[in-house]
Amino acid sequence: MANNDTIQKTVTVTLLLCIACSIVVSASAVLLRPAQVANKQLDFNKNILAAAGEYKEGVPVSKQFSQVDVRIVDLRTGQFTDEFDPDTFDQRSASKDPQLSESLSKDEDIASIKRREDYAEIYLFKDEQGNLSKVVLPIRGYGLWSTLYGFLALESDLQTIVGISYYEHGETPGLGGEVDNPEWRAHWPGKQLYDASGKVALEVIKGQVYPGTPDAEYKIDGLSGATLTTKGIDNMIHFWLGEQGYGEFIQNLKAGDA
Ligand SMILES: Cc1cc2nc3c(=O)[nH]c(=O)nc-3n(C[C@H](O)[C@H](O)[C@H](O)COP(=O)(O)O)c2cc1C
Repeated sequence: MANNDTIQKTVTVTLLLCIACSIVVSASAVLLRPAQVANKQLDFNKNILAAAGEYKEGVPVSKQFSQVDVRIVDLRTGQFTDEFDPDTFDQRSASKDPQLSESLSKDEDIASIKRREDYAEIYLFKDEQGNLSKVVLPIRGYGLWSTLYGFLALESDLQTIVGISYYEHGETPGLGGEVDNPEWRAHWPGKQLYDASGKVALEVIKGQVYPGTPDAEYKIDGLSGATLTTKGIDNMIHFWLGEQGYGEFIQNLKAGDA
């Protein structure tokens, strides 16, 4: 009978096992990729609905999202554009493409994003009569450890906040990661964005907002023990709702001229 206890046989069996396992792992990665991409898109859409206060547990996200009108805005002109198909437009890739984005100077780049894309994908919610009820705008900016990616939703007055949600960040759970906490997110609805002169007046402050706090309607509680993430959120709101971001588009939409 052949001897199985040879170095040659041990090495052969080990190698065959390694090859078999790597084929299984690679095949799984390739086969599961489409499902991962689809789930990521569903999570993205779920966060848009959540920012707008429209997400309903138990109803398929795809069904809920079908009511949303997805449009592309040219941030340089503040006008809607049909230059890109919203089904295929990738804003994150556009933000890295020198043909589709602009480099920001140090003074302009308060959200620490380096480049601002020329086009943004935005989400419009309509009421039963077909009138605009809410607008959801993508926002992003650096916190302490990471760039936070999320959405800010506004009422049709383009002044009152409906909500905020983040779908990707690398902040510390329990500290900066509290951006995902529904209790903190509940501070946002009803807050006001612009002052009478049209400047972004909304602030995420260090500490808490009390009923007697002056200008409480413009102030949001900071995250405790996470001053740097808090500052990052405040910065990204000022950037994206200001003139480098959606400022011009919001003016045009208010005037019925977007
Ligand atoms: C392990 C660890 C994780 C931290 N994560 C965060 C974070 O996600 N966001 C943040 O702003 N600060 C975070 N901090 C705290 C900051 O390092 C910093 O101390 C803090 O933001 C300073 O302000 P504060 O203590 O007044 O909030 C972390 C600290 C440690 C030690």
